[in-house]
Amino acid sequence: MKHILSSLAIIIMAAACCNTPKTAVYLDENQPLEKRVEDALSRMTLEEKVKILHAQSKFSSAGVPRLGIPELWTTDGPHGIRPEVKWDEWDQAGWTNDSCTAFPALTCLAATWSEEMSALYGKSIGEEARYREKDVLLGPGVNIYRTPLCGRNFEYMGEDPFLSGKMCVPYIQEVQKNGVAVCVKHYALNNQEARRHTYNAVVDDRALYEIYLPAFKAAVQEGGAWSIMGAYNLFEGEHLCHNDRMLNRILKEEWDFDGAVISDWGGAHNTDEAIVNGLDLEFGTGTNGMDSKYGGGYDAFHLALPYYDRLKDGRASVDVLDDKVRRVLRLNFRTALKSDKPTGSICSPEHYDAARRIAGEGIVLLKNDNNILPLDLEKISKILVVGENAIKKMTVGGGSSSLKAQYECTPIAGLREAIGDKAEIVYQRGYVGDLLRKYNNVDTGIDLTDPRSEEQLIADAVAEAADADVILFFGGLNKSRGQDAEGRDRDAMALPYAQDKVIEALAAVNDNIVVFNVSGNAVEMPWIDKVDGIVQTWFLGTQTGHAIADVVLGKVNPSGKLPFTFPVKLEDNGAHALDAYHPDSLTVEYKESIYVGYRWAEKQGIKPLFAFGHGLSYTTFDYGEAKCRKSGDGFKVSVEVTNTGKVEGKEIVQLYIADEESYLERPVKELKGFKKVALAPGETKKVTFDIEPDMLKFYDPEKGWVLEPGEFTSHVGAASDDIRTTVAFNVK
Ligand code: BGC
Repeated sequence: MKHILSSLAIIIMAAACCNTPKTAVYLDENQPLEKRVEDALSRMTLEEKVKILHAQSKFSSAGVPRLGIPELWTTDGPHGIRPEVKWDEWDQAGWTNDSCTAFPALTCLAATWSEEMSALYGKSIGEEARYREKDVLLGPGVNIYRTPLCGRNFEYMGEDPFLSGKMCVPYIQEVQKNGVAVCVKHYALNNQEARRHTYNAVVDDRALYEIYLPAFKAAVQEGGAWSIMGAYNLFEGEHLCHNDRMLNRILKEEWDFDGAVISDWGGAHNTDEAIVNGLDLEFGTGTNGMDSKYGGGYDAFHLALPYYDRLKDGRASVDVLDDKVRRVLRLNFRTALKSDKPTGSICSPEHYDAARRIAGEGIVLLKNDNNILPLDLEKISKILVVGENAIKKMTVGGGSSSLKAQYECTPIAGLREAIGDKAEIVYQRGYVGDLLRKYNNVDTGIDLTDPRSEEQLIADAVAEAADADVILFFGGLNKSRGQDAEGRDRDAMALPYAQDKVIEALAAVNDNIVVFNVSGNAVEMPWIDKVDGIVQTWFLGTQTGHAIADVVLGKVNPSGKLPFTFPVKLEDNGAHALDAYHPDSLTVEYKESIYVGYRWAEKQGIKPLFAFGHGLSYTTFDYGEAKCRKSGDGFKVSVEVTNTGKVEGKEIVQLYIADEESYLERPVKELKGFKKVALAPGETKKVTFDIEPDMLKFYDPEKGWVLEPGEFTSHVGAASDDIRTTVAFNVK
């Protein structure tokens, strides 16, 4: 009987086995990725291969329907999930279920100097992208802040390659845990918006490797980014979306990048270069009136029929094609085709909380004379709020990062909510700047028109100023063209509109003023000595007003530090001092080489308005003596930091290293470590930095990376211009 039963079992099992269709290798997620990619590749026709290398709509590309390989859907990025657009247009499609959480701009994230906040940001925005069923998030951006005039600095992570490299990695890793790829942009040397499609950046190899590439390299090698976006402009005479040196040789060969290179929208210009110079997936090329031979539209894209024709008649090699297809398949298998993705979530209490925390940690207290902040509501009865940016919604506008936020709390709304009836809040506009209300058809719903003249606006504000206990001025830049916005640079570093005049007029009657600079860029502050407080608030998104109120009232102790230098004037910046910024020229020579930001200021001995790494707190921190010891191939530098004030706070302890002698000139010192530590009043913590030999190298254009033996000094402190302790070490 037992025998009969087991025979029966074998027969049943065999039948079950024969009835189960065998899963194709490319669909079997238990198989190694490369095996699946090869299997899919081997099944695809030439037409199918070409079809997946270019867009089919503004933001999507085709899959391989016959094989069940889905479409890829991309979305901007990098501060929230862009509203759905019409198939072929930039305008929003008018859906009612596509609003998002607007997270603080990336300059704010960089200003947190907190890898924990970067991870929280990536997790949250990744979940929103996942919920909206996006496969590729177009961000983060890590172009280096070269000039305060660049209109897109607000989307990037500042002037320092080490800081931006460290800060982008957790964001990337956390986004990708959602089965959503990042697309790191804009690789590379896209450091201005002026003539962004046509200028050729002339950059020496040392600056390229030491300043402009490290953050991208970190994104690829440490973050494991699955895609990268080519920049619009040119380098060595080739557009960066099809640039042999940058894409083939550096990104794919030197760095072993196995993901896909995606063109910026409309960044591909030449079919033959697009084929051989490393572009894998083409988006945004004009869809009207392109080569009529191919009927215009998406079929006329460089990597569409023009490519197909070249493959058919042997002008293009199938090996190169297959490499592109593999990369796009990898991207697809890691995202769209992945079956066990989380469901994601959107506008959740957790995401609102994350946005508020990141904003709170990124706000930078630049000046706080007489401890004007936090406000003590016991002693204040009238608060005068002045300035357009107190009432303006900033998540709409500025280019591709424009959002349709489900909710945006303006500064004035946040203050009113937090202060309630504990003090009277009077608002005065002060100046009229920009009336932008709609962008890509997303409407803020706020009518900003004001018929008053400049003089009248100032007079009305001043009339309320004399008896105010404190004046909170909200100004800075905004998201309209020529400000912090894509497609054009700023004309000047000064505050636009009548803002300087308003601040001067207010200060003439009442010097209890705090200026809140809402921007992603440095601005001139000719009135700096006439105000007690200055706060850099960035573009903070959904939670703007709440995060600002948290800091104003001391619920959050500010702990952000500047990720870029505020020069006093434009000429204090290297690119401008050397007349090496040319908005009208087709060639822009980066004459300052590696001397970007604080590297220039320190070399020239120029005192900035606010230095890189600067940021105050409502408490004070004391630093002990830095100690250094050998550890493996490198060194460990440690220092004790104590909170000497009355409230708890977070300090960002910064490590800069100076190479005391080298055969190539080096910066005075360079950031090589940072740690954000939370300290209760009276508490002391030991902070330790690891110095690896690679961190001490410089790039010699003749020899590559060089570690030169000799003496180095570790400078440990609270800012690049506030070094508290140093310790020397020797490399044998
Ligand atoms: C921008 C990119 C953006 C893309 C899609 C381009 O104009 O430069 O950053 O991701 O448009 O919106």
